[in-house]
Amino acid sequence: MSKPFTSPIKTVEAIPELRTLIQAQRKQDASIGFVPTMGALHVGHVSLIEAARQDCDFVAVSIFVNPTQFGPNEDFDNYPRLLAEDLEQCQTAGADLVWIPTTEVMYPPHFSTYVEVKTLSQILEGATRTDHFQGVTTIVTKLLLSCLPDKAFFGAKDYQQQAIIRQMCLDLNIPVEIKTCPTIRDTNGLALSSRNAYLSEAEHESALSLSRTLNLAKEKIEAGETNLNHIKTEMQQLLEETPLVKLDYATIVDAQTLEELTTPQPEMVVLVAAFVGATRLIDNCLLNSASAH
Ligand code: PAF
Repeated sequence: MSKPFTSPIKTVEAIPELRTLIQAQRKQDASIGFVPTMGALHVGHVSLIEAARQDCDFVAVSIFVNPTQFGPNEDFDNYPRLLAEDLEQCQTAGADLVWIPTTEVMYPPHFSTYVEVKTLSQILEGATRTDHFQGVTTIVTKLLLSCLPDKAFFGAKDYQQQAIIRQMCLDLNIPVEIKTCPTIRDTNGLALSSRNAYLSEAEHESALSLSRTLNLAKEKIEAGETNLNHIKTEMQQLLEETPLVKLDYATIVDAQTLEELTTPQPEMVVLVAAFVGATRLIDNCLLNSASAH
């Protein structure tokens, strides 16, 4: 159950109030860092806020569970909402302001404009989660244009998301530097995700197969295997053989274009997605020439 609302951190809801506060900081020459989130904050989010704190004079965090990035059979209604705990974490991690817009603020009546990054949004996650990235790019555009930060901080765990957001900022000349911060893992190697909260003990154990699969690929490539199709088959087998796991994809792609690779190249990403019980999890590992040799 959510704790009562007691955090002393400054919060705002409306966009004009947010803009007034950010402009006041700008007048004092403060650099603005922004961490967009859907709440249910964990150590991964905290690391983004801390990175923004290190890098910028003023740090704003947004908390908004964005309905347009959830499919009809996904977990929008059940997505964990833990505002009091989230505000405490923002405060402790050093944020200055938390923006908590309502759905009416972000999607007023007659809302009808969507942002879509074509090719990158249709593959991998986008192949089965149709419209997911359109929801992400629409809300991130609105968040960035409302806050107008110098830098926005995203997690490497959502590799495809950050690649799409980078492309979008480039294409639309949105003057915000996108910073991607490392994935944070628990002691067993499981990438932190708000959705890990859905996992039973047995599912948590099975979920460790995702990072094991990434390690398998990394080790093979580091050992000099050049047939990436062989590696992909082994990755898929490992996941398919794990109880409670239903494989979506396990692949190796170009780090920029996200196109599937058959032979190694200087910058590659190993990506996996699978259902563990009813929970869909993703993970990835970036490999560059330095780590591949
Ligand atoms: O990564 C997330 O939490 C969300 O996709 C984001 C970027 C906050 C947009 O709703």
